[in-house]
Amino acid sequence: MSASLTGTGLHLTLGNNHILRGVDIHVEAGHATTVIGPSGSGKSTLLRVLNRLHEPDSGDVLLDGASVLREDPDRLRQRIGMVFQQFNLFPHKTVVENVALGPRKLRGLTAEQARAVAMEQLEIVGLAGKAEARPAALSGGQQQRVAIARALAMKPELMFFDEATSALDPELVKGVLALMADLAAGGMSMVVVTHEMGFARSVSDSVVFMDQGMVVETGTPDALFDDARTPRLRRFLDQVL
Ligand SMILES: Nc1ncnc2c1ncn2[C@@H]1O[C@H](COP(=O)(O)OP(=O)(O)OP(=O)(O)O)[C@@H](O)[C@H]1O
Ligand SMILES: [Mg+2]
Repeated sequence: MSASLTGTGLHLTLGNNHILRGVDIHVEAGHATTVIGPSGSGKSTLLRVLNRLHEPDSGDVLLDGASVLREDPDRLRQRIGMVFQQFNLFPHKTVVENVALGPRKLRGLTAEQARAVAMEQLEIVGLAGKAEARPAALSGGQQQRVAIARALAMKPELMFFDEATSALDPELVKGVLALMADLAAGGMSMVVVTHEMGFARSVSDSVVFMDQGMVVETGTPDALFDDARTPRLRRFLDQVL
C-alpha cells in the first residue's frame, strides 16, 4: 500500500528566486525520511513540488518508479496525504464530518461508507470519542490529530508532514509526534519536515539536510547527527541541538 517516492534534479524558480537548485530525494516504500534545514532553505517548497502544488522547471517526480508529472495533479494529491502547521478544519462541521468529507467527495463513497471510514481513522488517532464535537472544542493537538485522520481517510500511499507540531503548545507536541511515530512504525511512507531533532533522530530511516535550495547531506540519522561531514550541517546542528 505504501509507495516509494523519488525526486530527481528538481529545480524551481519563482519570480527572481531560484528556490530549488537540483534537489534529489528518495524515500523507500514504508520508510520515513525527515527533511531538516534552516528557515528559507526550501523544505516546504520541496514538498509542494513533490505533490505538484508547484510544477518543477526541470527534474522528475516518481511514485513507485513511475513519473507523476503527466498524471492528473488532483489524482496525485489523493495519493499523497498532507498535514500542515495549520489544521484548516471546517469550524461549522463536526470532527467526523471533517474527516468524512474527502472520502465522500473525492473517493466517491456513500455518506454511510465515508462515515465508517472516518470513524475508523478517528479510532486510530484516539479521537473516536470526539466525533460529534466541533473542532473549536478540541485542543490544538487534538485538532492536528483530526487533520491527520482526515489525510489518512483518503487512504494515501504516502504522507507529507510540514512542521505539523510547530503551532502546538509544547505539552501537546508529544502526542502528535507519538502518532506520527506510530504511523511510521506501521509502515506508512512519509516525508517529515520538522524542527524536532529528537523525532528526526529516533523515528526516521533517513535524514535530508537542506540549505539554500540544495541537499547538502543525506544519510541515516546516526550518520548525520553523529558524523556530520560538512561544516554547514555541523553549524546547523550546533544551533538546534
Ligand atoms: N511563492 C513564492 N514566491 C517567491 N518566493 C517564494 C515563494 N514561496 C517561497 N519562496 C521563497 O523560497 C525560499 C524557500 O522557502 P520555503 O518556504 O520552502 O522554506 P522552508 O525551508 O520551508 O523555511 P521554514 O523553515 O521557515 O518553513 C524562501 O526564500 C522563500 O522566501
Ligand atoms: Mg517551511
